[in-house]
Amino acid sequence: MKHICNMYERDMHKLTQSLHGCASDLTIPFYTEVEIKEVNGLLKLQHIGKQFDGKDVLDDISFEVGTGEIISLLGPSGSGKTTLLNIILGLTAPDSGQIIWNEADVTQMPMGKRGFNIVFQDYALFPHLNAYENIIYGLRNKKGVVSEKEVREFIDLLELSPHLKKKIGELSGGQKQRVALARTLVMKPNILLLDEPLSALDGVIKESIKQRIQSIAREFKLTTVIVTHDPEEALTLSDKVLIIDQGKVSRFGTPGEIIHQPGNDFVKRFIINQLEIKRHNIFNLFGDQYA
Ligand SMILES: Nc1ncnc2c1ncn2[C@@H]1O[C@H](COP(=O)(O)OP(=O)(O)OP(=O)(O)O)[C@@H](O)[C@H]1O
Ligand SMILES: [Mg+2]
Repeated sequence: MKHICNMYERDMHKLTQSLHGCASDLTIPFYTEVEIKEVNGLLKLQHIGKQFDGKDVLDDISFEVGTGEIISLLGPSGSGKTTLLNIILGLTAPDSGQIIWNEADVTQMPMGKRGFNIVFQDYALFPHLNAYENIIYGLRNKKGVVSEKEVREFIDLLELSPHLKKKIGELSGGQKQRVALARTLVMKPNILLLDEPLSALDGVIKESIKQRIQSIAREFKLTTVIVTHDPEEALTLSDKVLIIDQGKVSRFGTPGEIIHQPGNDFVKRFIINQLEIKRHNIFNLFGDQYA
C-alpha cells in the first residue's frame, strides 16, 4: 500500500484538527492515494537576463528563496516583475542565467514539469463554471495529486463553503481571489507564484487574504513569490523583498533591513517616501498616537 505521507498531508493533518464543517455534497471523482513527495523548497535564481526587442528587461538578477519563505518582487510599472515571475514559472525563457530548484537546474525544464503554479492578476477563472468546478478544474488530468479531504480543507481554510455553487459572475472580488487561490493550492504546487493578487481588493479583505497567504506558506512550507507594486503590502507580507528598478536588483533584504538601511536613492524615493506620506496622512487623521 502506498504511504499517504507527503509534506502537505502531514501539515494538513495538523490543520484539520482545528477545522470543522466541510461542504457535505462535494464529490472529487479524481481522488486516489497520494504518493510520497519530499521537497526541499529552495529556489535560486542566478544571473537571470532577458531582452525584449534588443532591450534589457531583466539584467543579472540573482536571489534565493528558502523553503516556506515569502518573497515579494516590488517595483514600479514596467520594471520587469511579471517577466521575472513568468521566467520562474517556465512560461518565458531567460536569455541568460540559471534557475535552480531543489538543487536541480530547471532552466530548460518545461513549465508543466516544474510543478510551479501561478495565480494571475485577473484570476483567469472560467465564467461558465461555478466556484467549486473552477477549484477542481485542474485536477481532471491529475489523478492522485490531492485527496478529497484536502480539497475540502482548502475550501474551509479560504472560507469558500457558502459560495461553491455560485457562478463566477455572482462572486465578489475577494471571493474570486480566494477561488483563484484555492484552484492553485489544490494542485499542490512546488512553488506558489502570485502576480499582484491583492491589487483589486479593499483594505479589510486585503488584510484577510494577506494573513491567509502567510498562514498557508508557514503551515505547508510553501515557497511563495508574490509580485506587487505596493511597498506597504510587500513589507508587511514578506520575509524578504526584492526591489527591482528598470530590470536590475536595487535592493534585496528583509523588511527591517530595507526600512532601516535603504541603501540607495531609488529605495528611499520609491519605498520610504511612499510610506512616510501614508504615515503623515494617518497622523493627520488620527492625531498624536500615530505619529
Ligand atoms: N512579450 C513581450 N514582448 C516585448 N516586450 C515585453 C514583453 N513582455 C514584457 N515586455 C516589456 O518588458 C518590460 C517589463 O514588463 P513586465 O510586464 O515584466 O513589467 P511589470 O514590472 O510586471 O509591470 P506592471 O507593474 O505594469 O505589471 C516592459 O517594458 C514591457 O513592455
Ligand atoms: Mg506585471
